[in-house]
Parts: sequence; C-alpha cells; structure tokens
Amino acid sequence: MKTTLAILIGVSGAMAIPTVSLAADAAAGAAGWTKEYPQTDGSPPRSCVTCHGRDLSQPGRHAVTNKVIEPMAPSVNPQRLTDQAKVEKWLLRNCRWTLGRECTSDEKVDFIAYIQSQ
Ligand code: HEC
Repeated sequence: MKTTLAILIGVSGAMAIPTVSLAADAAAGAAGWTKEYPQTDGSPPRSCVTCHGRDLSQPGRHAVTNKVIEPMAPSVNPQRLTDQAKVEKWLLRNCRWTLGRECTSDEKVDFIAYIQSQ
C-alpha cells in the first residue's frame, strides 16, 4: 500500500510514470468521491463531497467544524498530494468518517488518481 501510494504521488513530480500507476482509475475515484454512504447512527449520508465539495478547484467546508478547507485540486492548490504522510493520515481519517471503514488500497489509489487529475 505505502509503496503504491509513494509511486503514485511521484507521478505528480518529475518522476516517470511507473507501470503500477496504470492500475489507478481516476473515473472510479470520481465515482467514489460523490458516492453517498448511509450512516447507522441516523445522521445524514456522507461522501467526500460533504466536506470537500463536488468541484475540487473550489474550497470546501468541514461538515463538523464548519471550517473552510482549501481546494483539493493540485491545479489550483499545488500543495496537495505532495506529502505522503499527510495523504495517508487524512485518507485513513476521512475514509473512516465517510465510509465507516478504512478504504482499500484500490480505493485509495483511485481517489488519488482522481484528485491528481483535477
Ligand atoms: C469531515 C470532513 C471531511 C470529509 C467527509 C472528507 N475529508 Fe478529506 N480532508 C478533510 C480535512 C479537514 C483535511 C485536512 C485539511 C486540509 O488538507 O485542508 C482533508 C484532507 C484530505 C486529503 C489530503 C490532501 C493533501 O494532500 O493535502 C485527502 C487525500 C483527502 N482529504 C481525501 C478525502 C477523500 C477521498 C474523502 C472521501 C472518502 C474525504 N477526503 C472526505 C476533511 C474531510
């Protein structure tokens, strides 16, 4: 998992695109981004959109704290996906909050491929 992510993140930099990144599916990441997950505690369904919005070039708003979240799209926010530890930390946290479980490696690389394409 770590290796795959590291390699994918490398794609955003000067590194050549390794074969393994072909496994990432930005379209699946896009679908996963808007997919709504019903909650068992009666709270409204959650998705990545709940905090980050549909348009990744625009700021989002945290559903719990109401704080503004800077745009996710690297095209307008070059800091995005540059820090692997940060990406892993937030994917863990956000997947748990949104899906109610950790994301699979496939889901994670798809999300990253999607974000990267924005
Ligand atoms: C409860 C609100 C919330 C939800 C829902 C949410 N996120 Fe986030 N996300 C955050 C916050 C807060 C940060 C960290 C603040 C920041 O980076 O601006 C963050 C950061 C990230 C980062 C790190 C980006 C970087 O390199 O700076 C990724 C990747 C990410 N989120 C992906 C997702 C995905 C995928 C989903 C859906 C499964 C999701 N998030 C759902 C709040 C949320």
